[in-house]
Amino acid sequence: MNILILGSGGREHSLAWAVAQNPKCDRLILAPGNAGTEALAENAALDILDAEAVTGFAVENAIDLVIVGPEAPLAAGVADALRAAGVLAFGPSAGAARLEASKTFTKQVCDAAGVPTAGWAHFTEAAAARAHVAATGAPIVIKADGLAAGKGVTVAMTEAEALAALDDMFGGAYGAAGAEVVIEEFMAGEEASFFILCDGEAALPLGTAQDHKRAGEGDTGPNTGGMGAYSPAPVLTPALQAQVMETIVRPTLAEMARRGTPYTGILYAGLMIADGRARLVEYNVRFGDPECQVLMMRLGAQVLDLILAAAEHRLETAQVHWADDHALTVVMAARGYPGAYGKGSAIHGLDALPEDSHHMVFHAGTTRTETALTATGGRVLNVTARGATLAEARDRAYALVDRIDWPEGFCRRDIGWRAL
Ligand code: AMP
Ligand code: GLY
Repeated sequence: MNILILGSGGREHSLAWAVAQNPKCDRLILAPGNAGTEALAENAALDILDAEAVTGFAVENAIDLVIVGPEAPLAAGVADALRAAGVLAFGPSAGAARLEASKTFTKQVCDAAGVPTAGWAHFTEAAAARAHVAATGAPIVIKADGLAAGKGVTVAMTEAEALAALDDMFGGAYGAAGAEVVIEEFMAGEEASFFILCDGEAALPLGTAQDHKRAGEGDTGPNTGGMGAYSPAPVLTPALQAQVMETIVRPTLAEMARRGTPYTGILYAGLMIADGRARLVEYNVRFGDPECQVLMMRLGAQVLDLILAAAEHRLETAQVHWADDHALTVVMAARGYPGAYGKGSAIHGLDALPEDSHHMVFHAGTTRTETALTATGGRVLNVTARGATLAEARDRAYALVDRIDWPEGFCRRDIGWRAL
């Protein structure tokens, strides 16, 4: 098969790494990819938000399957355009991608389907939103309705913080994404991510993970895209997973089908767990980053068969083969991230590291110049390892980290601490 993966981060590198191990994969192209994907596939320059360009490229290159990594092309209708052109695509339609692209939409679906989630209210005007905050008090959660690259959420512990977040949103800090605002009840508990393959009818749990969103050790400091992750998430016991499928996932999928926008692709349910019960925090319509990296490390080549089964509506008979293992990834980021950081620093030492089914350094923001591998983003490397226990996976991952020579980078030293 000829396979095209859209995206350029660690998520896409790990998808490519797993897919390339499957003998069904003949030719693999990443668009645009990064310095890591270049080593195991071809990179192609392509505007992945341009549905026509992606479809044209896929047809020209006789692509048999397109795997869409990030949410933005899905929200832009890239999967719809591919399917309309007869190209098999893994990822939801633009209509179904609204589960991530609009918080209001998701809350409406939850209400219609009886899915447990935080209480909420929707606002298009600052005065009414401010009055709601004054009446409710803190803690309270303020969210831009639309896609804001993971930055549109403020968990406000004080009323003043909540009001400042409203000023930002209605002041245009998030552009059109913040013209509508959702204000939510604050939920306490432990967060975990649950990944479910969906083919429009059937749903197959693919795995669980937990990530660390804060930049600092002990889960302190500013929010980031994720500083590390591990799989499985011990808090999501088999019993709790069954509960989530029954009370959250299946009712949502039924409501999406009823609305004429059945969901296909990977559904990422962000959950808050307290007192043995899970409530939905949010849906994403893609794999998590860096959660994908630990899932891929554990699943390996079978991922392609599972993705194909979802894209071809054959999930009913598909099975995930789980080993009794653990994976952990440490994000190495440029000093300063998530604030301002420098670009272009050289990274040394990667060539000497093992790359096998237990050790992989996935690239998130790198490019290869004539002389060196250099950092091009905030989150730059995902140092990932697998082990029989979480502690073993962690020790292996940090042993790799310690061999990487990149003075301009940093990482958290405590990834996995909650579970260890
Ligand atoms: P979201 O983009 O909706 O996942 O929000 C980002 C992060 O904000 C989540 O991963 C949670 O840590 C936190 N969060 C979002 N909504 C709530 C809520 N209602 N209660 C508590 N924390 C929340
Ligand atoms: N790691 C969180 C996300 O991908 O949204």
